[in-house]
Amino acid sequence: MIFKDSKGAEFLASKSKMIHQQLLTMKSGTGYFFVSAMALLVFSQFSFQKKTPFDLKASIVRGKEVYVAYCLSCHMEAGEGVEGVYPPLAKADYLMADKKRSIQQVLYGATGEMKVNGKIYNTEMAGFDLTNEQAADVVNYIRNSWGNKGSAIRPEDVKTVRK
Ligand code: HEC
Repeated sequence: MIFKDSKGAEFLASKSKMIHQQLLTMKSGTGYFFVSAMALLVFSQFSFQKKTPFDLKASIVRGKEVYVAYCLSCHMEAGEGVEGVYPPLAKADYLMADKKRSIQQVLYGATGEMKVNGKIYNTEMAGFDLTNEQAADVVNYIRNSWGNKGSAIRPEDVKTVRK
């Protein structure tokens, strides 16, 4: 840039000083705010993405505790049940056939006749007062123990089953 006189140069110099000052205040004010807002956004995206894949293994570990506390007394330690009275869960065709039904039975109980691994059961099980997470965990545990292998159930799935 060419300045015709010193006045113009002075004017420009003072103008640029002003802009510089403005930039400085922006950096410390709006600038920092902007940077931290961006950091927050990036962080929240990151943690959201980290939560999305469901940790089935951890759910099964938690589910075992629920099983020991609420279910073991009838369905037994190895999920074998008691023939004619408490149906088995281990390698149980009935259990593995319908995960929604299993969630319903755990929450609201089971009555009436059912055929599990070729044997008829016609007794009764009361429902359990469990949180969505506890119910998902225990069903994940029984569907993934003693030779069973089932897809993951999330607390959201239990929520949709609730009446
Ligand atoms: C007091 C004994 C008792 C307890 C405790 C109990 N159950 Fe049951 N459960 C039964 C009986 C009895 C049946 C069969 C009901 C019928 O014949 O209609 C049954 C049926 C089931 C079934 C369906 C049958 C099958 O083989 O898939 C599932 C699933 C089940 N129970 C899971 C559980 C879970 C999970 C818990 C713990 C949260 C639990 N039960 C606790 C007695 C019990």
